[in-house]
Amino acid sequence: MTKLWGGRFQKSAEQWVDEFGASIGFDQTLVIEDLDGSIAHVKMLGACNILPQEDVQQILGGLEQLKKLAADNALEFLVANEDIHLNLEKMLIDLIGPVGGKLHTGRSRNDQVATDMHLYLKNRVGEIIELIEIFQQTLVAQAQTHIETLAPGYTHLQRAQPISFAHHLMAYFWMLDRDKDRFKDSIKRIDISPLGAGALAGTTFPIDRKLSAEYLGFANVYANSMDAVSDRDFIVEFLSNSSMLMAHLSRFAEEIILWSSSEFNFIELDDSFSTGSSIMPQKKNPDMAELIRGKTGRVYGNLMGLLTVIKGLPLAYNKDMQEDKEGMFDTVHTIVGSLKIFEGMVRTMTVHQERLHDTVHKDFSNATELADYLAAKGLPFREAHEVTGKLVFLCIQRGYFLLDLPLEDLQEASSLIESDIYDVLSPLAAVRRRNSLGGTGFDQVAIQIEEAKKRLV
Ligand code: ARG
Repeated sequence: MTKLWGGRFQKSAEQWVDEFGASIGFDQTLVIEDLDGSIAHVKMLGACNILPQEDVQQILGGLEQLKKLAADNALEFLVANEDIHLNLEKMLIDLIGPVGGKLHTGRSRNDQVATDMHLYLKNRVGEIIELIEIFQQTLVAQAQTHIETLAPGYTHLQRAQPISFAHHLMAYFWMLDRDKDRFKDSIKRIDISPLGAGALAGTTFPIDRKLSAEYLGFANVYANSMDAVSDRDFIVEFLSNSSMLMAHLSRFAEEIILWSSSEFNFIELDDSFSTGSSIMPQKKNPDMAELIRGKTGRVYGNLMGLLTVIKGLPLAYNKDMQEDKEGMFDTVHTIVGSLKIFEGMVRTMTVHQERLHDTVHKDFSNATELADYLAAKGLPFREAHEVTGKLVFLCIQRGYFLLDLPLEDLQEASSLIESDIYDVLSPLAAVRRRNSLGGTGFDQVAIQIEEAKKRLV
C-alpha cells in the first residue's frame, strides 16, 4: 500500500516496523476532533480564497460523511496508514477522489495533532469539572444529615477530639473544590488554537488562523508557531491536576476502607459498591475504594511519563510526542471512572450513627475539654495539661473514662474542678463549644455547608 508521504521513498518499511511507529491503535479516540479540525481548516481555506468554493463544498461533504460513519463505528482504521490523520485523509480521498488531497493545504500533521489534543482535552476537562461538582453535591447532602452525628477525630490515627461527622466529610468537599478550581483555571491554557502553525514555521498561504480558531470555538491562538506545535504543557498540567485529585480520592478511599472494617465499623458500603470473596462467605470487601486508591499509581505514573518524554526535546515537533496520548487517555478514563464510583459509594453508604456515638463516649478524646476548663479558670495551660494527664492515667489504671470519675477524685487533682465538669466533658458539648471559625461546632459546620453550597452553581 502506498503511503501518503511515499514520493521520496524507494522501498516501504516492513509491517512490524510500521506497527511500531503507528499510533492509530490509540489515536482513533481523536476521530471526531480530527474531523472537526479538518472542517474548520477547509472552511477557512474557502473563506480566504485559497481553495475554490466547489472544492471546499466537496471536501466538507466528504468530511461530514466520515463523521456519520464514525458515529456509527463504521470506519475501518489501518496500521498501514499510521495515525488518525493519515487514515482519515486516505478515507476522504477514497470517498471523494483527488480533490480530497487539497485538504492538507497550508497545514501539517504537527499543528493538526496539537489541535486535536486541545479540542479533546477542553471537552474532557469540562466533563470532569461537572463530575467533581456532582460528587461535591453528594458530600454536602450527606454532611447535611450528619451535622450532629458525633465521631472521633484523629491525629496520628489515635483518637484526638470528638468532631461532627459532617465536618470530616466536608474536609473532602474543600479538597475537591481546589481540584475543581485547578481544572477550571487550566482551561485558559487548553483553549488555544495551534491550527495554522504548519509543521513549525507557519505557511506561505494567506490563511486566517483566528478564523479557524473561531470556527472551533477556541478563545485564543498561539502567538508562536514553534511553541504551538511543541507545547505539551497543557497535558502535563492536566496530568498534574489529575494526580492531585487522585491523591485526595486515595486518602478518602483509605478512610472508607478503614471505616468499613469490623474494627472501626463506622459505615457500611452498599452491596452495589462491594464485592464478596470467592472463598470466605462472610466477606464484603470495599474493592471499589481499594481500586481507586490503587489507580492513583497509574495517574502519577502518567504524569512522570510525560514529564520525562518532553525533557530534553529540541524544538519543534519530535515523534517522541506521540507518547503524550495513551497516558492522557488513560488518565481521563481513570479519573472519570473514579469520580463516578466514589460519588455513588458515598451517596449509598450507611453511616452507623450509634456506633459512632458509642465510640466517642468510650475514649479519652474529651481530655482537652478538661485541660481547657482548668485553663479557662486561670491555671496555666501547661499545668492544666499535666493535671489532666494524671487523671487520664488514673482512669486507665481503674478501667474508667473521664466521665466515670467521681467528683472527689477530680477535685483531689484540682480544687478548681466543680460539678459542672460533667457537662463540659460530654462529647456533644465538646463539639458544640468548638465554635471558632471553621471549627467543628455544629453552628460552624452549618455555616460551612452554606458556604459550600455557594460554590455549587
Ligand atoms: N501520530 C503523530 C503524533 O501523534 C502525529 C504527528 C506526526 N507528525 C510527524 N511529523 N510525523 O504525534
